[in-house]
Amino acid sequence: MGWPYIGQTLQLYSEDPNVFFASKHKRYGEVFKSHILGCPCVMLAGPEAARFVLVTHAHLFKPTYPKSKEKLIGPSALFFSQGHYHSSIRKLVQTSLSPQRLRKLIPLIESEAISALESWVSSSQVINVFQSMKKFSFDIGVLSVFGELDKNYRDQLKEMYCIVEKGYNSFPNWIPGTAYSKALLARRRIREIISEIICKRKEQRLMEKDLLGQLLNYKDEKGQTLNDDQIADNLIGVLFAAQDTTASVLTWILKYLHDHHKLLQAVKDEQVAIYEGNERGKKALTWDQTRKMPITYKVILETLRMASIISFTFREATVDVVYNGYLIPKGWKVMPLFRNIHHNPEFYPSPHNFDPSRFEVAPKPNTFMPFGNGVHSCPGNELAKLNMLILVHHLVTKYRWEVVGSQSGIQYSPFPVPLHGLPARFWTNQ
Ligand code: HEM
Repeated sequence: MGWPYIGQTLQLYSEDPNVFFASKHKRYGEVFKSHILGCPCVMLAGPEAARFVLVTHAHLFKPTYPKSKEKLIGPSALFFSQGHYHSSIRKLVQTSLSPQRLRKLIPLIESEAISALESWVSSSQVINVFQSMKKFSFDIGVLSVFGELDKNYRDQLKEMYCIVEKGYNSFPNWIPGTAYSKALLARRRIREIISEIICKRKEQRLMEKDLLGQLLNYKDEKGQTLNDDQIADNLIGVLFAAQDTTASVLTWILKYLHDHHKLLQAVKDEQVAIYEGNERGKKALTWDQTRKMPITYKVILETLRMASIISFTFREATVDVVYNGYLIPKGWKVMPLFRNIHHNPEFYPSPHNFDPSRFEVAPKPNTFMPFGNGVHSCPGNELAKLNMLILVHHLVTKYRWEVVGSQSGIQYSPFPVPLHGLPARFWTNQ
């Protein structure tokens, strides 16, 4: 448990967090305890234990985030909620991201992907792939939340989100001028922008199927609607959840494809066949085509496993819980460690080799959780994968790229991404 109060926080932050978890896992087995950021925690590195907390006994645990982070997203957002309110909002989010809705988004995602790629090539400069992917994922997030939004609003939201994000990942300090206090101000501005958008939407009486439309039209059994704060917190939350996650995985995909030439060729062959079938891109991609990209799809799954960008999640025990003979005391944090499961050689032989062919056979139950599991699992997972399929389609059929610099390594932003955001140069294929 380390030192009083600080526990093992310094150890966790002074070494690579993956090494911290992996060495404890090796030493103590699948269930072990620690003390980080002022909280006693039980860490669970086995698939059954993760399922126990997230699925079968989820009612004994609640989501838990530092108050400072909750304040920046908004306390009524899905992540922080439980029970009836959570399941009602979750249904709305899932409906706004249903396959029927995603089908309709395909041409819009395609046009965002094409314009992003064109801008990287036309600048003829070295691109920070992660930062560029963030712009792309943010624009798609905006599409799924607000539908087609006025560019002026979109640009303002993007600018404010950048500030919120810096504060979210910094030490919470209310002193004016600090990253956190700037983030609170930016959050207030986002709230104002959303109020304006809601006002316009109400005036126009549009019955849109996007998330804003779903939230505005919601009525519970007693005819109760959602207030504007609840709506705003959820819009902000979904946009937040969509951006860096998708961008980090896309950045890793480009890195892995760049480093594995044969695989890149196989992905190219698969995508060029579709591209030719669509009269060299004159016809738009269809939903059915995105369902028939087996090689690219396996590259995405293997990237999700290898990069495990969400290495773990947090819950808090609401009562004393006994798991497999271990007591998890009420109030303790519980952390299912996704990355440890994804990198366990028992489930994934040679876990540090990038090998998409391992997904020709379905993973063992509960051993593949890049999108979590249970009632809080990711409702955006299909949208995230669709973005990746579409971006890769346009990338490999029309462009080539080269990573600049020989330094390899990982930076935490806060999700793991290749060092310096993967600087790269892009060219159009001859
Ligand atoms: C590769 C991209 C993504 C990854 C790896 C990812 C991963 C996850 C994970 C692991 C969770 C569960 C966290 C927990 O149990 O504590 C989660 C929750 C969530 N994700 Fe994603 N996500 C991605 C993209 C997206 C996108 C594109 C959206 C929305 C458009 C989204 C919206 C959400 C929301 C709203 C939740 C909270 C669900 C709830 O509490 O019920 N995510 N995500």
